[in-house]
Amino acid sequence: MDVISAADLDDPLGEARAATLDMLSRHPRGLSLPQPFYNDDRLFRLDMQGIFEREWVFVGMSCEVPAKGNFMTLTIGDNPLVIVRGDGGILHAFHNVCRHRGSRLCATERGKVAKLVCPYHQWTYELDGRLLFAGSDMGQDFDLKAHGLKSVALTEAGGFLFVCLAEQPPSCDELKASFAHYLAPYDMENLKVAVSSTIEESANWKLVIENNRECYHCNGAHPELLNSLQEFDDTDDPRATPAYRELVARKQADWEAMNVPWQLTRLGKRNRLTRTPLLDGTVSMTMDGKPACQKLMGRLTSADMGSLRILHLPNSWNHFMGDHAVVFRVLPLGPQRTVVTTKWLVHKDAVEGVDYHPEQMRRVWDATNEQDRRLAEENQRGINSLAYEPGPYSMTYEFGVIDFIDWYRETLAASLGASPSLRLAQG
Ligand code: FES
Ligand SMILES: [Fe+2]
Repeated sequence: MDVISAADLDDPLGEARAATLDMLSRHPRGLSLPQPFYNDDRLFRLDMQGIFEREWVFVGMSCEVPAKGNFMTLTIGDNPLVIVRGDGGILHAFHNVCRHRGSRLCATERGKVAKLVCPYHQWTYELDGRLLFAGSDMGQDFDLKAHGLKSVALTEAGGFLFVCLAEQPPSCDELKASFAHYLAPYDMENLKVAVSSTIEESANWKLVIENNRECYHCNGAHPELLNSLQEFDDTDDPRATPAYRELVARKQADWEAMNVPWQLTRLGKRNRLTRTPLLDGTVSMTMDGKPACQKLMGRLTSADMGSLRILHLPNSWNHFMGDHAVVFRVLPLGPQRTVVTTKWLVHKDAVEGVDYHPEQMRRVWDATNEQDRRLAEENQRGINSLAYEPGPYSMTYEFGVIDFIDWYRETLAASLGASPSLRLAQG
């Protein structure tokens, strides 16, 4: 940049924006990203502004806030949010920020309240965000109506909840329709969280997603997962064998007869939904491949449902089997810090200790998450080195990573004002 303008003074990231756009437009497709994308504080802030404050971000499941007054909280970057169910079953999302002097309102991860009461000076809000009470000394002219909670766009799609911090969120019609279609057999309002885990990883959020988008590493890293998981999930996969194709055809015929969706759907590169078989003879992601829960979900009548795999960029992947589901949420904490939350879902009437044992249900993905954490952290350590330079993704094993990086580059470049023709250099 030749001249520093007043606009640049207003925008401390101005030079970083220009440099980032330049790097994005020159970066050859098919290579991992340049180092600053994985460890630089300014790039991290651009990721937060350009991706996590503009796109639909997965927050949790509607069954986690089942009744009026139930709330859940999360933080996207610097933004604490609260999702609460109000009158008539309506879900609301708000900035979890008091309109008095800005204190965070709800400090716990979840709970049940009659009203939202600020812990600092007890300003009190209705569940729909209206300010009801602000003490008696705010003066006669104080306008309660002008101090309601700031709302955030929220959408429910087949039992998944997404928020978007942008003032004008991108359309979510297709997202809602697709998720509703695939998840209809699961009766999502009648699920519950059997158990959950939260792990913090010392790695950039993109390394966590990249690691998830390939199974190149599975053979060497995931013995527990490979008791049930197929290493590929598509008959177009260059590695797909005749035996795999035969298994897929057989299972698809079974699912078709049960009127359960299995086809592959893509919504751009952001979402991918498909049902694929587990290893022949296994029905669930457990150590022995047998169901972890005796009560099946929704209207399903067979445990042998393979896995409905659902990807949502930037921050979620999911497996829905017949007996239980595992949902994953990724939230960036810093350039080299990411939190991964995993929830295991079962039918809400399943009885712990009778129908399922949480310790048994969680074993495979606890082991897998821990293995993936180490892989992502080692990846980060190497990337921080003077020696790191972008390396080639494998077209055979890592096409999912290439798709993710394409989506990331296009989305971030668009947020930085790139014209579509500038958005991707073809390598
Ligand atoms: S900051 Fe919330 S009541 Fe004062
Ligand atoms: Fe993995």
